[in-house]
Amino acid sequence: MKFGYFDDVRREYVITRPDTPYPWINYLGSEDFFSLISNTSGGYCFYKDARMLRLTRYRYNNVPTDAGGRYFYINDQGTVWNPGWAPTKTPLDSYGCRHGLGYSIFGSSKNGLRATQTVFVPIGADCEVTRLTMKNTSAEPKSFQVFSFVEFCLWNAYDDMTNFQRNFNIGEVEVDGRAIYHKSEYRERRNHYAVFGVNTAIDGFDTDRESFLGAYNGFDRPDAVLEGKPRNSVASGWAPVGSHCVRMTLAPGEEKSLIYVLGYCENPEDQKWESPNVVNKAPAKKLLSAFSTDAQVDSALSRIKEYWDGLLSNFRLDSRDEKLNRMVNIWNQYQCMVTFNMSRSASYFESGIGRGMGFRDSAQDLLGFVHLIPSRARTRILDIAATQMEDGSAYHQYQPLTKRGNHEVGSGFNDDSLWLIFGVIAYLKETGDWPVLQEQVPFNNAEGTEVPLLEHLKRSFDHVLNNLGPHGLPLIGRADWNDCLNLNCFSKTPGESFQTCANFESGIAESVFIAGLFVSVGPAYAEILRRSGCAGEAERALREVRNMTDAILRDGWDGEWFLRAYDAFGDKVGSRECDEGKLFIEPQGFCVMAGVGVKEGLAQRALDSVHRHLDTEFGLVLNWPSYTSYRLNLGEISSYPPGYKENGGIFCHNNPWVSIAETVLGRGDLAFSVYKKTCPAYTEQISEVHRTEPYVYAQMIAGRDAPRHGEAKNSWLTGTAAWSFYNVSQFILGIRPQFDGLEIDPCIPEDFGSFTVERKFRGSTYRIEIDNTAGKSKGVKSMTLDGEPVRGNVLSVCGDGQKHVVRVCMG
Ligand code: BGC
Ligand code: NOJ
Repeated sequence: MKFGYFDDVRREYVITRPDTPYPWINYLGSEDFFSLISNTSGGYCFYKDARMLRLTRYRYNNVPTDAGGRYFYINDQGTVWNPGWAPTKTPLDSYGCRHGLGYSIFGSSKNGLRATQTVFVPIGADCEVTRLTMKNTSAEPKSFQVFSFVEFCLWNAYDDMTNFQRNFNIGEVEVDGRAIYHKSEYRERRNHYAVFGVNTAIDGFDTDRESFLGAYNGFDRPDAVLEGKPRNSVASGWAPVGSHCVRMTLAPGEEKSLIYVLGYCENPEDQKWESPNVVNKAPAKKLLSAFSTDAQVDSALSRIKEYWDGLLSNFRLDSRDEKLNRMVNIWNQYQCMVTFNMSRSASYFESGIGRGMGFRDSAQDLLGFVHLIPSRARTRILDIAATQMEDGSAYHQYQPLTKRGNHEVGSGFNDDSLWLIFGVIAYLKETGDWPVLQEQVPFNNAEGTEVPLLEHLKRSFDHVLNNLGPHGLPLIGRADWNDCLNLNCFSKTPGESFQTCANFESGIAESVFIAGLFVSVGPAYAEILRRSGCAGEAERALREVRNMTDAILRDGWDGEWFLRAYDAFGDKVGSRECDEGKLFIEPQGFCVMAGVGVKEGLAQRALDSVHRHLDTEFGLVLNWPSYTSYRLNLGEISSYPPGYKENGGIFCHNNPWVSIAETVLGRGDLAFSVYKKTCPAYTEQISEVHRTEPYVYAQMIAGRDAPRHGEAKNSWLTGTAAWSFYNVSQFILGIRPQFDGLEIDPCIPEDFGSFTVERKFRGSTYRIEIDNTAGKSKGVKSMTLDGEPVRGNVLSVCGDGQKHVVRVCMG
């Protein structure tokens, strides 16, 4: 069952009823100011850091779900309704929510009034803008009130939801005509405040929550709105809010718009005050006046559209599969931008206070983002590298605001460092920006420790080599990619973090997955060394890659698939000898991607085992069988009930690994069927089962051992976005940046048909027309560039800013 449809021309998902199975959200903003907005106008906004600088309050896990947002109440002669349906949930005559790229539009009507609420974060401004257009569609004049509403967060989202003995005393506001200023803590160490203004004269306001709602009411029954009487309240402590009341009268057919701006403003330390205790409003006034007319709003919206036109023109597919086109051209790339911006910090499943930027997460996010804005990818690489330690290990997470490593989580995840190399390889292949390797980057952000980025890569690689176990395989540390495989943890204390507890340093638990990752990055890393004048080290790296490959084949092969690990006692994990958890997906995907066991025929056996044991109608589960009891020696993985998360869930992130691995073997049918199973556009039809947004990937879909098999959770912020785009663009469609050019090597089902990709690469545009009338899965028979035959299947870098036509014949 569907709850909406894709409008590909406008690049929107159109939700046609408000009661979606779960809130279906969108992200606004792509630089410093961000908003989360649901299909009922719930959500919140923040500046740069969802924990430290949150502008509006949001109650996670509230009842009912999704309470709190930017709400507009219309009181039409006693009938009170919202254009986004919530929070009053007054039945609407019509409802629609269009989530587009960087904006959302609610269009609803009730009793002859039509409301269009357009919400966006402008490019280059730190605010959320809402234009509310009201139209009288009836034959009579209409007179009604519009109340806006936001609830301010006292900036630090964690304190805001815990430290009430303080919080209830610090709330402060100023009201200046039609602008409401939230200035809690501004009197002391903050130099920023929030402003909420509207572009028209108002008939009243509220800034104190209790006055507006009534002490015992929820957002669904605000007294001020129901009575049609703003209280003109000025908050002092308790809960500051912002609400404007505007009375409107519309003749039949007449339409008028109101423009609201909710913004973040900063003042220099010495210019904080206009007069004693009165904030300097200059930046706010500037912001409000930048978005006070329809023409300004229209032009800001066009800028967002042009921004996305530009970004998405870097990779455009034209195939005969409409669902594939919309994922590749629109939604997958859009999600990659969001994961790049948020890492795993703020979504409807990530509270914005727990996790900042993940080292491995952000490094992987580059795979799906680097072709969009390479310069931002470059900055990110340098930021990530600066949280590395001198021994090559790394902080597992860092805060976006300070860019400092998070001490609570610390380091010890032994795959982390390799992802830095992975990300840099992707960046270099996309851009050819070799000078980046000479950028001076500190360790642990400590001044004076700067070394070239290249040196950080060396430390990363060597960190693995300096931490090998008894079988010559990498030690796993706290965990590898699978955060829940905690082989050195042995936690018996309820509630203790599996990732940070350390009471059993075995020094011998090894990961075959890290070994596969090592082999996979090794050759390109060696090439980077060679081109950087380190031929000897390059040789050594290749030697180590061969040693690691041998170690995998010797001690990491289980007979029908690759082993997952050795635990703290040297016992096997992910082996047919185990009673549960016999087979894990991660090493199969990564080892085959790395080419391990391909010529020996082991790779194919491993992937066949994956299909035989892990496949379900909704995707491949992570491990089989799921653990049915808690295992002290395995940690968090066995803490999950069977079928959820890392314990037998369909962990979407590593499905693309298997799909890519299939392209290594040339099995285009299997690669594509694995791709499609978890791909949102293909599962839109079962939204009532899947439950999260049908336009983006979720981290996990419940596996077959779970009672709720097929149900997705943790949508939006997942490495699945980047990996899926990397997979489909570079391996299935086969348009693959290399150090010296663009390799063309599709691997598709035989009946996929011909297709065209327009790809911007290092300044030139390549229109690549792939002719597959031969009905092949893989293999490029011939290729021409602007009519001239090309030897092999790699296009050299034209670098002339021109458009080129490439004709490729598969066969
Ligand atoms: C989750 C993992 C996640 C980890 C992060 C675990 O509870 O299952 O998916 O990566 O927490 O700390
Ligand atoms: C989510 C984390 O963000 C990611 O880093 C990890 O690899 C997966 N969970 C698997 O545990």
